Amino acid sequence: MTQQAKDPVELDVEMELPGAADTEELGERLAGGLKAGDLVVLSGPLGAGKTVLVRGLARGLGVAGPITSPTFVIAREHRPLPGGAGVPLVHVDAYRLGGAAELDDLDLDTDLAEAVVAVEWGEGVAERLAERHLLVRITRRPDDVRVASVHRVEAA
Ligand SMILES: Nc1ncnc2c1ncn2[C@@H]1O[C@H](COP(=O)(O)OP(=O)(O)O)[C@@H](O)[C@H]1O
Ligand SMILES: [Mg+2]
Repeated sequence: MTQQAKDPVELDVEMELPGAADTEELGERLAGGLKAGDLVVLSGPLGAGKTVLVRGLARGLGVAGPITSPTFVIAREHRPLPGGAGVPLVHVDAYRLGGAAELDDLDLDTDLAEAVVAVEWGEGVAERLAERHLLVRITRRPDDVRVASVHRVEAA
């Protein structure tokens, strides 16, 4: 990992991400501050770069890939690789989930409390899984540059 990749991500500021590599790097930097039980909720329209960011999380955590859009499987579990952070990554696509109850019912092999959980389309759904989470918002400007911001959200 480069020194830059280890820099903590500043909260509540908008970051310009000109290319997919920049979005992946943001995910990698975010991973540096994550531990087992942490929840990351990703919001943004189709094609914004949510899955690309999760690819960066996976690289930063050091888990087995590949990271692809879980749209048709709802959730994928990625086991820790030797030399990584030792924490599995659960990658969920909540697009077709009915709600938090269904998310609880996914019946994954991985204990969510022992994993980092990243949920695409999770706003309004995943929050109830944990008392706090990181919200990553990604928007797409007309010039195609992505603008992302990271927020710490406490459950009401
Ligand atoms: N700055 C950028 N950040 C992320 N993805 C980008 C960027 N510029 C172009 N792309 C492309 O946009 C697509 C984003 O796809 P994906 O991450 O699957 O979106 P989502 O999961 O939000 O629907 C990828 O094909 C990626 O290569
Ligand atoms: Mg996606």
